[in-house]
Amino acid sequence: MKKIGKWFWKDLKETNSTNDSVLRFLKEVKAPCIVSAAVQTSGRGRLGRTWEGQTGNLFVSFAYQIEMPKLTHYALLSGLAVWKTIAFFAPLKDVKVKWPNDVFVEGKKISGILFEKGPDDYWVMGIGINVAHAPKVENPMYKITSLADFSVTADRKDVLKKLVENFDKLQEKYEAFGFEVIRQTWLDNAYNRGKKVIIKQNGEEFKGVFENLGPNGELILKTKDGLKNIFAGDLF
Ligand code: BTN
Repeated sequence: MKKIGKWFWKDLKETNSTNDSVLRFLKEVKAPCIVSAAVQTSGRGRLGRTWEGQTGNLFVSFAYQIEMPKLTHYALLSGLAVWKTIAFFAPLKDVKVKWPNDVFVEGKKISGILFEKGPDDYWVMGIGINVAHAPKVENPMYKITSLADFSVTADRKDVLKKLVENFDKLQEKYEAFGFEVIRQTWLDNAYNRGKKVIIKQNGEEFKGVFENLGPNGELILKTKDGLKNIFAGDLF
């Protein structure tokens, strides 16, 4: 069985969604594992959206155990692992984490993450990174980009290996020292911090200044009625 670091790993030619494939692989290996695929035919995004699955981009899902109180921390930690990876491949570009866990380069979205519940205390962390193509999406919520748009040529498997290395290092730090170390680096590289933003959440909208991150990874918004802690939503 192949491995990347501590993780059992399988790379598929094609799948509907690596988030589904990794659950099948988990049944087989019964340990933290990763499934990547060259092509993904029915990729899922957050909030019921779809995720385009062209060859050359990275589609990968990790299955591992997360204790429930740590879930929101892992949501941010995963974004930071992607941020570090993109910053490694495109070191001269403006790379930012966008709450809760998108990564933007020069103001355009390059990566997204979808967490889904697995069996027992396993969670699936599905990550899409636009390596070779920026998919053409109808009515996109944000502008979309890829590493290739910045003349970076990279193999999706090399991007994956770097991502796993970064995730493992951040996880070790987090488990040893707690969320504060993650929170600080995250804030130092956050998109739109200190700026006026709109948070959309289940049809509701909150307007204010993105002030800070709370101890649970929630976004702290300074609204006209005072500070508001927001645990889920999309930032614009
Ligand atoms: C988002 O909406 O920004 C999250 C996108 C997550 C896409 C990835 S690609 C690998 C994994 N498999 C899926 O079906 N979705 C995630």
